[in-house]
Amino acid sequence: MSQIPNEFNCFRINQEEDKIVSGLEKVKLEDINPGEVTLKTEYSSINYKDALAATGAGKILRTFPLIGGVDVAGEVLESKDSRFNPGDKVIAACSGLSETNDGGYSEYTRISSEAAIELPEAMDTRTAMAIGTAGFAAGLAIYKMKLNKQTPEMGPIVVTGATGGVGSIAIDMLSASGFETTAVTRKKTHDDYLKSIGTSNIICLEDMEMGERPLEKAQFGGGIDNVGGGLLSWVLRSTVPEGNVASIGLAGDFKLPTNVMPFILRGVNLLGVNSTTLPNSFKQDVWNDIAVNMSPKKIEQIVTKEVTLEELPEQFQAFLDGSIVGRVLVKI
Ligand SMILES: NC(=O)c1ccc[n+]([C@@H]2O[C@H](COP(=O)([O-])OP(=O)(O)OC[C@H]3O[C@@H](n4cnc5c(N)ncnc54)[C@H](OP(=O)(O)O)[C@@H]3O)[C@@H](O)[C@H]2O)c1
Repeated sequence: MSQIPNEFNCFRINQEEDKIVSGLEKVKLEDINPGEVTLKTEYSSINYKDALAATGAGKILRTFPLIGGVDVAGEVLESKDSRFNPGDKVIAACSGLSETNDGGYSEYTRISSEAAIELPEAMDTRTAMAIGTAGFAAGLAIYKMKLNKQTPEMGPIVVTGATGGVGSIAIDMLSASGFETTAVTRKKTHDDYLKSIGTSNIICLEDMEMGERPLEKAQFGGGIDNVGGGLLSWVLRSTVPEGNVASIGLAGDFKLPTNVMPFILRGVNLLGVNSTTLPNSFKQDVWNDIAVNMSPKKIEQIVTKEVTLEELPEQFQAFLDGSIVGRVLVKI
């Protein structure tokens, strides 16, 4: 443990009266929550949830103060769990960081051994954090769709919120898995970006006609939805028989105005995706499957920014107003 300096930098979130205040602070190892595995942090990332947490736009933290960053990847310095040894590389994502425990926006991180995922052999820590919670949710959706017999022959997979973190990685992973994709986006000026990450068809949300019929023309093999509301309803009503639609996000609306026809006449499956509720062994299987069978090929295009801890505060607004494109990496 001698490598750890007496004090190190982190980005911490505090509550002062009713206000959330966050910024760079110096802390000591004994100031951060206990955990069996101590890491030298290499990378973290910014997710929509991180922006909510750091700005107070959403109630994410259940205790204060906490270091931000729902994702972390780094090298083990010390482990009280025999599964991990100094020098091993591990990931923690979707496991309560920056919610109940200190997160990854810190030069050193302590995590519980249940939160630690072995970095798959074919992956480095930078790629793991370019994927992060957003990409893991996309990978989990594809994993569940494949378990439910989704095949490329059933038709293109429609991805909504396409230029965001989940959407971009989903398009890349689907392409790597042999699926054609259709991107639905609000951004009229990002066709080149979407083509560069592997999608062939682009629909601009503003120009599209969603219809109001109980069933629309069955044009998609399945879907990955990050937006919710009427858009998810349209995806369900436009999916072929036995297709799978994964509901990941609520960027537009948490409501789902739908009807039973897609389910009872076409056998469409609505799959729930929650990256936090899985047992650790299931998460490890999904990370391994991501590394081997759906490894993203366009990470360099999808990582649109790489920032330091000092640069974090200026990044959050773009997530809150939905103008973010791709993934933002945090290099520690
Ligand atoms: N279930 C899980 O385990 C899990 C895990 C991670 C994230 N999520 C959720 O998944 C969603 C996407 O996360 P993310 O990391 O990709 O976020 P993000 O990077 O902020 O991207 C969200 C995208 O959604 C679209 N969008 C935003 N506001 C919208 C609105 N009002 N109406 C329609 N489209 C809108 C935008 O894409 P376009 O401009 O291209 O349309 C935006 O880039 C969020 O709701 C997040 O909370 C869930």
